[in-house]
Amino acid sequence: MKAVYENALKRIDRIPSDGLKQIIRNISAENSIYEAALNSTLDGIIVTDLEHNPLLINRSAEKILRFVSWTQDLTLWEQLSDENLVTFFRKSLTAEENIFNREVSINRPSGTRVISISISTLVSEGKIAGNLIHIEDITEKRRRDAQLRRAESLAALTTLAAGVAHEIKNPLASIRIQLSIMRRILEKRYLKDIEPIFHNISLVEQEIDRLNSIVVDFLFAVRPMDITLIRDRVEEVIQEVVELMNHEAEEHRIALVTQFEPALPEVMIDRKHLKQALLNIIKNAIAAMPEGGTLTISLSTQNDELLIAVKDTGIGIPEELLTKIFEPYFTTKENGTGLGLTITFKIIKEHNGEITVESAPSKGSTFTIHLPIPQPEQKSLPKWDDGLKVEASHTEG
Ligand SMILES: Nc1ncnc2c1ncn2[C@@H]1O[C@H](COP(=O)(O)OP(=O)(O)O)[C@@H](O)[C@H]1O
Ligand SMILES: [Mg+2]
Repeated sequence: MKAVYENALKRIDRIPSDGLKQIIRNISAENSIYEAALNSTLDGIIVTDLEHNPLLINRSAEKILRFVSWTQDLTLWEQLSDENLVTFFRKSLTAEENIFNREVSINRPSGTRVISISISTLVSEGKIAGNLIHIEDITEKRRRDAQLRRAESLAALTTLAAGVAHEIKNPLASIRIQLSIMRRILEKRYLKDIEPIFHNISLVEQEIDRLNSIVVDFLFAVRPMDITLIRDRVEEVIQEVVELMNHEAEEHRIALVTQFEPALPEVMIDRKHLKQALLNIIKNAIAAMPEGGTLTISLSTQNDELLIAVKDTGIGIPEELLTKIFEPYFTTKENGTGLGLTITFKIIKEHNGEITVESAPSKGSTFTIHLPIPQPEQKSLPKWDDGLKVEASHTEG
């Protein structure tokens, strides 16, 4: 295009005014495109002359560097307020060095922002005409990168830890078996003075069991759960759980009561996992009633949800701890792992459900699991069906 204009310039005296108008219109249209392109890019672009005064500052550059207004009569750095930017531009522009992606931090009331700046020489018609400056606000990108790195290293760490936990499980089981064998041999051969040794063996066994539960809970908490939801009866799951816990409840002088609303709907559950979630809650409830009490498991419906409520008459949970109890490793027990409720929470989330707690210190606590009741699919007719119906009634009538 430039050659066309230069030719026109040579014979400008001979161009009729209509022709001149057209040429100016063309130049103006071309200019608007350049301007629009420059102002649409998210990259900040600045062009300076040989005196380092700005010739052009595009909209993104204005935004990133917070220019309210600027002039061609002062150097770029004289028109900036941020100390770091002033120093950076004064030094690098006067040194006439090319710079690639230098990061400069600037302080804003909203926090520190990281700006990446490149400076290259602007060459026009074979001569150095100034500088082309490219700037980019990389604060968000930085944040995302850091987040990603953190998530990646956490995932790697989790895999590693799960591997170690898994490796601990087998020798632990083997140690436990060897201890039982030793106990039996001792019982047979040295019946007389081995009472103290039995005591030691029991302690070791307890410690092994504790280690085992830490490892098992940990693995349960970190491993991805493979949950398959199918339509099933929760009352049957509860019946199974009650049978499993009856003996332990009796030992702790706790009455186990179930209350089921009639005609309960089926919901989408994974039996094995839901059972685990309930067992964790029930074990906590039993632990919360050292003097005995009543454990009530009830099933009811409310709106579109099936509610499983586990109520104890135990020590209760202080209000300030209610938000903490689902956190991994939060425990108030000497021998707790603090993972039981974390696992329960994860399982219920996988069921698209919710879990809520109500508690009054020294009165007891109620853990309620909310599970969505599948709704009958509503047959939505395609739009044009309405039209057909109207037509049909026309012909009938
Ligand atoms: N029914 C309950 N009554 C009183 N406190 C409870 C009850 N259920 C849970 N808690 C509190 O929540 C904590 C975390 O429970 P959990 O995640 O199962 O870990 P752990 O049982 O290993 O401590 C318990 O240590 C206890 O302080
Ligand atoms: Mg627990």
